[in-house]
Amino acid sequence: MAAPRVSDLHRTAFVTGASTGLGRAFAAMLLAEGVRVWGTSRDVVRLAELAAAHPGRFTPVALDLRDATAALAAFRGPEKDAGGFDVVVNNAGYGAFGGFTSADFADWRAQLEVMLVNTAALAHAALPGMLARGRGALVNISSLAAEFPLPFQPAYNMAKAGLSALSESLMIETRGSGVIVLDVRPGDYRTDFEGSVARLPGADAPHAMRAWAAFEAMMRSGPHPDHAAGSLRRALLRNRSATVRTGRFFQAVAGPLLARLGPLALNRRIQARYFGLD
Ligand SMILES: NC(=O)c1ccc[n+]([C@@H]2O[C@H](COP(=O)([O-])OP(=O)(O)OC[C@H]3O[C@@H](n4cnc5c(N)ncnc54)[C@H](OP(=O)(O)O)[C@@H]3O)[C@@H](O)[C@H]2O)c1
Repeated sequence: MAAPRVSDLHRTAFVTGASTGLGRAFAAMLLAEGVRVWGTSRDVVRLAELAAAHPGRFTPVALDLRDATAALAAFRGPEKDAGGFDVVVNNAGYGAFGGFTSADFADWRAQLEVMLVNTAALAHAALPGMLARGRGALVNISSLAAEFPLPFQPAYNMAKAGLSALSESLMIETRGSGVIVLDVRPGDYRTDFEGSVARLPGADAPHAMRAWAAFEAMMRSGPHPDHAAGSLRRALLRNRSATVRTGRFFQAVAGPLLARLGPLALNRRIQARYFGLD
């Protein structure tokens, strides 16, 4: 018997932030699984390689989540061309590192708009088509930071916790509809993420630099993004709404288990020690 493929369940997918890192690995996995993919970048030149490797099966889309109206228009055109998207992967995002009060609040607000408000707006635009067809998968790429906040990245933690809360809420709301919702929470993966983190005021304070060094070391030693794509593939094939923690065993399995058993104060102390802030 042939091994199951994602294309047995889904024909088309829209992946935000497909130019690099996890999004690119998700797009490549879906293409390898026989799914047609529309992938986004703020600069479609960054998608040329994927398009050349998969002629007629990968379509580059220009999308910038800083502008909600333009981002929704960038989704709706391809959605119409594709005859609806079976899978939508809300993956695009970035880090911003600095002191909460040292940085201008406008920078935190901008990150929340991109990674929470406008990402939720895309989910809001994507679901009606899936619900009307009675099938599909909404995939929100959150982070283990939703459970274990990263110091000096307050808006990132807020955005990911909010996105996970949205996914949890939609998992209940879509029960019995044929549509599934995946709340994917990666641990540290080796991507361009750490290199593209916006450095805000307060980032150079000595205690912030210690936290940055720990963060950077974990990112650089993390697994390859293909590992996360494997987790997403398996979750799509299970075809059930779920929270998907993925990454190194300690971060994705042991840490969350210990955190559920221990008191929150102890978890915070371990986090602080880990980031050199004890
Ligand atoms: N790497 C990790 O360890 C890790 C862990 C947990 C969660 N995550 C999450 O996984 C997702 C992907 O991260 P990554 O590690 O793959 O990072 P990455 O390599 O830096 O890729 C980020 C992607 O997001 C896109 N993007 C950034 N800002 C955007 C905006 N304003 N509008 C539209 N697209 C934008 C980028 O596209 P262009 O620059 O081409 O426009 C790029 O494709 C993020 O949501 C991140 O928070 C990552």
